[in-house]
Amino acid sequence: MLSKITKLIFPPKGIIGIDIGNSSVKLVCIGEEKKVTVLKDWGYIPLNIKNDSTPEERKAIISEEIKNYLKKKGIEVRHAAASVSGNSVIVRYVKLPKLSKSELALTIGVEAEPFIPFDIKDVSLTYSILNDIKEEGEAKMETVLVAAKKESVQDKIDILEGAGLDPVLVDVDSFALESLYARLFPNPENTSILLLNIGQKVTNLSIITQGITRVVRDIFIAGATFDKALAKALKTDAAGAAAAKKAHSLLVADEDKEAAIEAFDKEGIAVSKAASAVLKDLYTEVSRSIDFYLSQGVDHSISKIIISGGMANLGNIAKFLTAEFKVPVEVCNPLSFLPEQPKNLPKDVLPALAVATGLALRKLKDWEE
Ligand SMILES: Nc1ncnc2c1ncn2[C@@H]1O[C@H](COP(=O)(O)OP(=O)(O)OP(=O)(O)O)[C@@H](O)[C@H]1O
Ligand SMILES: [Mg+2]
Repeated sequence: MLSKITKLIFPPKGIIGIDIGNSSVKLVCIGEEKKVTVLKDWGYIPLNIKNDSTPEERKAIISEEIKNYLKKKGIEVRHAAASVSGNSVIVRYVKLPKLSKSELALTIGVEAEPFIPFDIKDVSLTYSILNDIKEEGEAKMETVLVAAKKESVQDKIDILEGAGLDPVLVDVDSFALESLYARLFPNPENTSILLLNIGQKVTNLSIITQGITRVVRDIFIAGATFDKALAKALKTDAAGAAAAKKAHSLLVADEDKEAAIEAFDKEGIAVSKAASAVLKDLYTEVSRSIDFYLSQGVDHSISKIIISGGMANLGNIAKFLTAEFKVPVEVCNPLSFLPEQPKNLPKDVLPALAVATGLALRKLKDWEE
């Protein structure tokens, strides 16, 4: 579909997808070796940036981290793609009057303005026409508008340039996930899939029907929300909470709960209780989006939920969400399309590479066109 917020140049070869998140930078480079698609390079760089750092300091630290990593691993690819999400992007599905491509190109700013809550001068605007419809006898076009704050797009470009890279594209997290999904499921059945990419500050939600994203929303319940709830329950700090989150699993089955009680696993029980409460809040928000989607009179109910992002590693999260949503929930392996699975890739890094893989793939796809 769409989603090139900026497309600066077409690279002649190799591209590296760089997902600059709030807690870590993820890096993926996919290429061909002897005509076989392989993972050429990958990286998971945790960021430990002090809360009182200025935005400029933060950018400089991230650039430096990426630069050092590329040097350490001997990665020579210089063309890079990044993405934006959260408060800096607005995605709107709107019905516009039927116009020709050239008419729309001229008037899109005016047509889009009522739907964009930012000053139109401050955003990079792109759009894609999904299909033509008739509404009250009038010819209209179902259109996706994407507005990203220029400042946020520029921040990503600055970080990449600061790391000595050439930025070729700034995408949106959700559309990078759509590119990934197209590769993972090249023949989407007649159903809808819900993607939840749960990171540190934001959860990207998308509903993809037959390969096309129909709902996009960013929900501000993510890793940090769990850390806060756990810190309170365990009377510890954010670091202690993050460690507890990794050490324990959600208690979902009755046997697991009983076993934890018998073993006097006080901390495990407290973690499960606090994390379950956060997941229930997330469930409520996601259910709202599902209801909104179904209210549009679509033919396909959600048949599967795929979770990615670092938080997809929370023990038993898929089991917990399957019980809540009553729909199968799977943890994403963004590299499952490779003929051979890469060795030496820690299991908990894999779901966090989803956006970076989508970014890396998107460009491969563009070259093929
Ligand atoms: N093994 C694990 N068990 C539980 N939680 C984990 C594990 N590994 C990572 N996490 C959590 O995943 C979160 C980070 O995920 P991710 O790297 O996808 O976020 P991010 O992309 O940096 O953030 P954002 O997308 O919000 O900008 C953190 O809250 C971290 O504590
Ligand atoms: Mg992220």
